[in-house]
Amino acid sequence: MMTSAQIRSQFLDFFQSKGHTIVPSAPIVLKDDPTLLFTNAGMNQFKDYFLGNKKAPYNRAADTQKCLRVSGKHNDLEEVGVDTYHHTMFEMLGNWSFDDYFKKEAIEWSWELLTEVYKLDKDKLYVTIFEGDEKEGLPKDEEAYNEWKKYVAEDRILLGNKKDNFWEMGDTGPCGPCTEIHVDCRSDNKRKQVAGASLVNNDHPQVIEIWNNVFIQFNRKKDGSLEPLPAKHVDTGMGFERLVRVIQGKQSNYDTDVFTGTIAEISKIVKKEYKAGDDKESIAFRVLADHIRAISFCVADGQLPSNTGAGYVIRRILRRAVRYYYSYLDYKQPLLFQLLPAIATQFENVFPELNAQKDFVARVIKEEEEAFLRTLDKGLRKIEEAMAQSQQTKTINGATAFELLDTFGFPIDLTILIAAENNLTVDEAGFKTEMQQQKNRSRAATSLETEDWITLIDDVSNKFVGYDSLETKSNIIKYRKVTAKGKEQYQLVLDTTPFYAESGGQVGDTGVLQFGDEAIEVTNTKKENDLIIHFTDKLPAAIETAVTAKVDTARRKAIAVHHSVTHLMHAALRTVLGKHVAQKGSLVNNDYLRFDFSHFAKVTNEEIAAVEKMVNEKIRENIPVVIKSMHKDEAVALGAMALFGEKYGDIVRVVIMDPGYSIELCGGTHVGSTGELGIFKIQHESAVAAGVRRIEAVCGAAAESYINEQFVALDEIRGLLKNSKDIPKSIQYLQSENSLLSKRIEGLEARQLVGIRNELLQQDEIINNVTFVGAIIEVSNADALKKLCTDLKSHLHDSVIVLCSNIDGKAFVAIGIADTVVAAKNLDATRIIKEQVAGLIKGGGGGQKNLGTAGGQDVSNFKTIIEKVKSLL
Ligand code: ALA
Repeated sequence: MMTSAQIRSQFLDFFQSKGHTIVPSAPIVLKDDPTLLFTNAGMNQFKDYFLGNKKAPYNRAADTQKCLRVSGKHNDLEEVGVDTYHHTMFEMLGNWSFDDYFKKEAIEWSWELLTEVYKLDKDKLYVTIFEGDEKEGLPKDEEAYNEWKKYVAEDRILLGNKKDNFWEMGDTGPCGPCTEIHVDCRSDNKRKQVAGASLVNNDHPQVIEIWNNVFIQFNRKKDGSLEPLPAKHVDTGMGFERLVRVIQGKQSNYDTDVFTGTIAEISKIVKKEYKAGDDKESIAFRVLADHIRAISFCVADGQLPSNTGAGYVIRRILRRAVRYYYSYLDYKQPLLFQLLPAIATQFENVFPELNAQKDFVARVIKEEEEAFLRTLDKGLRKIEEAMAQSQQTKTINGATAFELLDTFGFPIDLTILIAAENNLTVDEAGFKTEMQQQKNRSRAATSLETEDWITLIDDVSNKFVGYDSLETKSNIIKYRKVTAKGKEQYQLVLDTTPFYAESGGQVGDTGVLQFGDEAIEVTNTKKENDLIIHFTDKLPAAIETAVTAKVDTARRKAIAVHHSVTHLMHAALRTVLGKHVAQKGSLVNNDYLRFDFSHFAKVTNEEIAAVEKMVNEKIRENIPVVIKSMHKDEAVALGAMALFGEKYGDIVRVVIMDPGYSIELCGGTHVGSTGELGIFKIQHESAVAAGVRRIEAVCGAAAESYINEQFVALDEIRGLLKNSKDIPKSIQYLQSENSLLSKRIEGLEARQLVGIRNELLQQDEIINNVTFVGAIIEVSNADALKKLCTDLKSHLHDSVIVLCSNIDGKAFVAIGIADTVVAAKNLDATRIIKEQVAGLIKGGGGGQKNLGTAGGQDVSNFKTIIEKVKSLL
């Protein structure tokens, strides 16, 4: 039997023999694409080639791409594990033509590969083509039909509608008609009884699509219209796990050697056999075997689990997995992280980034599992209660679903899943309202409305010249309006620009676009795929005239200082802490730098000092910063540090500060030599996540200001102290004196309270058999007032006590009622507080029936309050 590794190699070898360049998988987590969080198709990394924003460096390419389909347009999460052929992460084998071959070759080669190389039985294959769509004004794909006729009997060429046979990446972007290849994996007998053609595209678990060939011809625009592209392209995607299943003759993807290793590991850990059935236990095995791949590869590509965006998607997948092993495999400790070594080894030669970081990834996953396991049990009990209460409505209400999320960390899809297992639904609309309310509470909602581009100059791509110049003549190629948080902004694309777009942690440039006499301020510069976008608050009057683009040079210089010193610090951290240190996140701006890196312990003060010392030495050595472009392999041979989760082309930019010290692949802007950095100072060190530490530091003029501020503060402190020579000693003295005094005051106050109590005990009145004490007193805090109230109550029988105090200009009231009076007179201290007192002091409060307290702004009504309570008796 062919192994999955052999099947993958044969695909790549086949397309290499047809003139394709084999490229590496892009990272699974996307960085510069606002329309997508994760790579969801092999073509994502080529989107700009299709749209004509950039010229492809090759006409033909092929690869295996790590993909994730659990958010956005393509979302399979619910099916995963329940069936046997959907996955969260999967490998997509693909071949591409960029304005090169089209339908004829794509169809010919896919048939050749499947039937001659993989030797699939032709009788089991069906193909579909696009039937056309009147509303979109799209004709039937006759060309594909005629090509297929050369290889396949016509009754096996099926027509498909827009949903199945017109492929789109998302709501906008490149798209086109497609032709799919389906395989009928049923037994000969079954195939004789029911024709496979009737089962194609019908969710039959054994009649499945394996390959999609898309003929990219259009760009779907924001307004829904289709815009023909300047050139035609081919984009194909074959589900690797499904292909392996078909070739290995299995009934389920999980029975192939892509998954059997992981399933065997799970089996060992939970001491149960995988039964490959439809039961909960079997589903749990499949869920784990699937989810661990998505989680590990995303973390390896730099995305940590978190509460928003891509990080939250990973957290949801992980929590779904934890709940499955907890509930159905009866395993109550972290499990997923134990699967890491096996997975890392399995993919060592395909996606080496995982094996290279397996300890780090395992650590992140383990900590995330532990965190969820801490609340899972309580959450499950909560949901059981909620379900018991919902038996009549058959719906879990939105507030409960939100509480499950907010307090117990149950992602909404987990709540929906558990509810569905019990034949209940969740009020998702109600849940969304609760979510929205919380969002509104915490901050104004961030909504971004983007309009379509208005193109001024066709077929021009934007060029970045900002490594060498900070001012250049240019023209606007296109622009659009965006509305963010109700504020209008504009985004402009220039044919040539010196503005650096935010990337690799370095913030975007700001500056000015000079249109004749009119200067338009650029507030930020960002990248969308490879497009450099300048943000402005208004449009120039003459947008079609030539423009001079000028970067704010002082700010750029300060940014470069922080970027260059980040490299020096990264190298110093690896020397001082060890080679396991790898960058996990970075922010470089004009004020400071922030650097996140893998390391498993707090960085000690001594280590911080050693890093600072090394960096400052490198600064004083005044090392020239050498920047070169070279082939990726050459850079790796030099020992250049590349970042996991970054997409690099064949030619990379390498920044060298002493070849023996720091060599990094980097697209950022830098100083000319390290002497320009001046001085470097670390401000903070902290933890950000499991196994990830953060350093914040300053350099150059920012460091000078920071150090000066420290000295100014120190001088002020010195001025305030008696013994200004030994500051720590003086402060220790003050601290111990302070705690001594506090203790003494506590003692005095206690005695004072006893005095007040005794005085008040003399002032009681008897009203209708109740002992009443009402007084305005002086105490130093609200707690003392409450204590006094309780104390008085314990010294009197059948009493009602009202105490008021003006503490530092604020009103405080305490009402105590003996339990006997509560019962006999139907009095309730809390109700009195809320109904009678709160309004009079312009505040609020609460408590129990026998003791209530309130605080407010108005101190002028104490007498009225006392009279009011008295009148209740
Ligand atoms: N981009 C196409 C798909 O994902 C091949 O199905």
